[in-house]
Amino acid sequence: MRYLIEYFVQFRKFIGRRIYYLLILTTLIGFAEGIGVTLFLPVLQNGFKDDKLSRALGFVLDALHLKYSFVLILAFILFFFILRGTFILFYAWYFGTIAANLIIDLRRDFLDKIFKADYVYILKKELGYINNTIVREIACVVDAFSTYSSVINYTIYGLVYVGLTMLLNVYVSTAVITVGVVLAILMRRLNLLINKASLDASLTYGKFHSILIQALSKLKYLKATLSEIKISKIINRENTRLGNIQFKLSFLASLSKEIMEIVVIFIVVGLLFYYVVIFKKDISEVIFLAFLFLQVARQMLSIQTAYRKFLASRGSIETFNNFLRELDENEEKFNLGGAIPDFENEILLRGVSMIFPNGKKALDDVNIIVKPRFMVALVGHSGSGKSTIANMVTGILKPTSGEVFFGGTNYGDLNLKALREKIGYVTQEDVIFNASIKDNITLWDENVDADRLRSIIEMSHITRFVDGLKQKEDEILGDNGLDISGGQRQRVTIARELYKEAKILILDEATSSLDSKSEKAIYENMKRYKGEKTMLVIAHRLSTIKNADYIYVFDEGRIVEEGAYEELVRKTGEFKKMIDDQRLMETEATTAGSKTRNAG
Ligand SMILES: Nc1ncnc2c1ncn2[C@@H]1O[C@H](COP(=O)(O)OP(=O)(O)OP(=O)(O)O)[C@@H](O)[C@H]1O
Ligand SMILES: [Mg+2]
Repeated sequence: MRYLIEYFVQFRKFIGRRIYYLLILTTLIGFAEGIGVTLFLPVLQNGFKDDKLSRALGFVLDALHLKYSFVLILAFILFFFILRGTFILFYAWYFGTIAANLIIDLRRDFLDKIFKADYVYILKKELGYINNTIVREIACVVDAFSTYSSVINYTIYGLVYVGLTMLLNVYVSTAVITVGVVLAILMRRLNLLINKASLDASLTYGKFHSILIQALSKLKYLKATLSEIKISKIINRENTRLGNIQFKLSFLASLSKEIMEIVVIFIVVGLLFYYVVIFKKDISEVIFLAFLFLQVARQMLSIQTAYRKFLASRGSIETFNNFLRELDENEEKFNLGGAIPDFENEILLRGVSMIFPNGKKALDDVNIIVKPRFMVALVGHSGSGKSTIANMVTGILKPTSGEVFFGGTNYGDLNLKALREKIGYVTQEDVIFNASIKDNITLWDENVDADRLRSIIEMSHITRFVDGLKQKEDEILGDNGLDISGGQRQRVTIARELYKEAKILILDEATSSLDSKSEKAIYENMKRYKGEKTMLVIAHRLSTIKNADYIYVFDEGRIVEEGAYEELVRKTGEFKKMIDDQRLMETEATTAGSKTRNAG
């Protein structure tokens, strides 16, 4: 009961005043059914007898100045059942629209909040968890609403029948209903078992599903190393568990139903015995009363089933609400009223340090200036903090201490939307969507300038690749499309960022999977942007940053050296050492290559 009220408030929040209209409709259905059924009593008895129900009907007929006739009653029966049917149809339509809109609204709100959430917060969330919320939890919330409504509906119908039995015979009804309540209390244990099993089933299903998805998504690795045997053992263990729980659940549910049915038959037989054998009363009244009790029992069973389903999905409401609350608390402030960045100004990172939520210190008191239209390069060992800097320039990462400025304006006072609109970012992990090459490059732009697209494909050095495809730029890439090589992925990603016409272009290991010839060609093509766009380039292969105006050398989150390329080469510091190391490796590779050739 407490839950029912608690969740009424909850669903009111979701669907607003419409919940009252649903309630009114259900009550109307209940009344139409109640009156329609009651009208069978005079039909059975062929007239009005001396019970409260008959008297009430007679009273209404008198008030309407109508005389009792068999045909008139039949007509009324038809009328009320047609009325009930109409209400039910209307209810189904109204409820359907509400449920559909609810699912649309919840998904939209949720997605909106996900996209608005702070990046660091999202980093902490498992992708599967977010996905599960969108697919399963939201469906469960709507399920909970639907089962909740069923509980309310059956309760109202049940109450109508209880009212009718009371009108027909207060004593007998009270006795039977008391038996019903006692029985319900006795059955509580069975119900608890059923509830527990249904909770178990949903937990086990979650586990089974999670491990199955993981296995399927890592199929390549599993098959290549024959590890699928190990994981399939675990999957099958969960599968068997799930099957067993589902069996237990269905058996307990039918057990509970059968017990109820047997008890109802006992009551009906008892009633017949009491009325006919002991009191020698009119059999039509007892048949009618038995029918009403059957209806009450039916509604009770339905309430029970619906309530059980409601309990199973009710947890989703809590999970979903908690997630929404968390998302609200972690909303990123876009500061739309803030200063619009002037791209003729420099970006300044002053004394920035970054400690990730897991305690990892990625940057330590770093100072960087990215002058407008300059090409600034970040180099350094793996894990030294380069990508962290790139993320900070976009504003998705905020330093734990120190400040980031754009043209003298602190990022906190900057309109982040206006900034990001003009940022092109080839992230270290290449981003390929399950879509056509064209959509991958234009991000589903509806007014694509074909010539511009062509020239960008050229600049990204993928002309040959694209022209070699059957559908050219309409070829679908990604999971369900063409699987392309690492280097091709990177070039498509570069094309996307060039298409964007960004003012600031960040290239984080944008060409790391390419052979040096293709890489060189791309950077040659990019030269035209030099002095036009501000560029932040991160690269391990140092030959790619020869054109940089300024270079920062990182080591373990600190800047250990900075300056122009030639200057750093002359200095014989960290940078020079890196260059020499790479040269040495290249020479070794060439020598090894020529040795193999000679041997061959
Ligand atoms: N989300 C994160 N949570 C915790 N630690 C992180 C996170 N992202 C990066 N780090 C850590 O911060 C340090 C710097 O990472 P970063 O990605 O900036 O390195 P990088 O210089 O780009 O390295 P690479 O050349 O390998 O790409 C690393 O030690 C890394 O493990
Ligand atoms: Mg990196």
